[in-house]
Amino acid sequence: MAHAADEHEGGTRREFLYVATAAAGAVAGAAAVWPLINQMNPSADVQALSSIRVDVSSVEEGTQLTVSFLGKPVFIRRRTAENISEADAVPVDQLPDPLARNANLPPDDPATDANRSSLDPTGVWLVMTGVCTHLGCVPLADAGDYGGWFCPCHGSHYDTAGRIRKGPAPENLAIPVASFVSDGVLQLG
Ligand code: FES
Repeated sequence: MAHAADEHEGGTRREFLYVATAAAGAVAGAAAVWPLINQMNPSADVQALSSIRVDVSSVEEGTQLTVSFLGKPVFIRRRTAENISEADAVPVDQLPDPLARNANLPPDDPATDANRSSLDPTGVWLVMTGVCTHLGCVPLADAGDYGGWFCPCHGSHYDTAGRIRKGPAPENLAIPVASFVSDGVLQLG
């Protein structure tokens, strides 16, 4: 995976992300006409609108990219080795929500760090819907008592695997259907 980017490549990537975000908006708009399209036996092209591809190759370690998908923010975090080891060291039975909440895994899989970051074998990438599981605010990154995300609305603290650790939120941040389709390109949906 090439992480260095010259200015031209950076511009191309920004355009790519813009297109991806615009496609997400188009999905929201398309929802209103879904019953009509459904009657017309939708083609694979129409069904494909429910997924987007995002170039994540320029995301620096320790930072995240936020994209809009199906009307919600999605956090795409490139974690540091320290982020991973901190999350990995926490026993699942000490977590308020012991379930992985990962749409790519069986619903009863435990909230181990590996199950939270299952999109790549190194565990570097963490992809989550950026909506607090309490009442739906968008949590802030690099904040809170556990070095992950903090929701200022009512004080929920999430760790570096996006798992609720303290506060009123009942569940870990949800992980949407996602997969890497090639080196540095993530598909949501
Ligand atoms: S909405 Fe996040 S803590 Fe209430």
